Amino acid sequence: MRDPEIQVSGATQEKTSSTRGELFSEERSAEVVVASFEDTPDSRLRQVLTSLVRHLHAFVKDVELSEDEWGVAIDVLTRTGQMCSDVRQEFILLSDVLGVSMLVETINHRTGGASTESTVLGPFHMVDSPERELGDNINLDGKGTPCLVSGQVNGPHGEPLAGAVVDVWQTNEEGFYDVQQPNIQPPGNLRGLFSADADGRFWFRSVVPRHYPIPDDGPVGQLLAATGRHPNRPAHLHFIVTAPGHRQVTTHVFVADSPYLDSDAVFGVKDSLVRDIPEVDDPVRATEVGLANPFRALTFDLTLLRVDYTPPAARPDEVRSTVVGGAPS
Ligand code: BEZ
Ligand code: FE
Repeated sequence: MRDPEIQVSGATQEKTSSTRGELFSEERSAEVVVASFEDTPDSRLRQVLTSLVRHLHAFVKDVELSEDEWGVAIDVLTRTGQMCSDVRQEFILLSDVLGVSMLVETINHRTGGASTESTVLGPFHMVDSPERELGDNINLDGKGTPCLVSGQVNGPHGEPLAGAVVDVWQTNEEGFYDVQQPNIQPPGNLRGLFSADADGRFWFRSVVPRHYPIPDDGPVGQLLAATGRHPNRPAHLHFIVTAPGHRQVTTHVFVADSPYLDSDAVFGVKDSLVRDIPEVDDPVRATEVGLANPFRALTFDLTLLRVDYTPPAARPDEVRSTVVGGAPS
């Protein structure tokens, strides 16, 4: 592999200016193309395209991409688009397995540890989740290991957020969402929209979820197979929590003893989101909560920031300096 003139994570950079009309050359390919975007009226679009072109050209030079390899890449992207439909978004899945979804999520939800950490949304959220009462059993077919899920939604200073809306969805004990098994699971199984009580508390009955593979029957699955990666996600419950005047949190709680916690196919795991689900062997409590004894119990408290929260400083200088091209003009 030859030594490229641009190093994406190093200090060496090509000269950044290009004279209008300069013809294309291998050495100054990026500068020539960047110059073609000089008059882009939207400065943010110009910044993004400039950086994209510089990184793309540096990548092609770094690996000395062959024509056959570029053809394969075009074919993969074409098939990724062709796989997309109303119910399948293969491009998001590609972004997920490349860690880009998590990177965008993390950059855009910096909280300096002041709130519950966020993670990917995933494709199985229902916009119109069924409304439930606190204490309802969302396990509509009665299969699986019973689990009481409870928690409290608080603001940044520990103040309870009365009436916070908690949207949850999860797999059954076989690792499938209801929408993946329309003829097996009842619609709306293992999902629901709850309103927290006056103390910000929520609770409902469910089952312990299972780990599962992301959809791997398309180009993304082929990419994982070709690179020796498995398609699995560790067991988790999804949450979207909202409260007036506060920032929405989209997150998961991960099951502590699940396989794949350290190799999630979409890089969604954060330490702060992992919880044990201990067994409770207490007949009186079981009767109180309406579950068979023994049952499992998961507690997950959430902290939401106020909408006017100012995130910690953007990227530190040392991170910024590794980006080709530096700041926009
Ligand atoms: C999910 O957790 O539902 C999910 C996230 C990313 C890709 C596929 C599934
Ligand atoms: Fe999921």
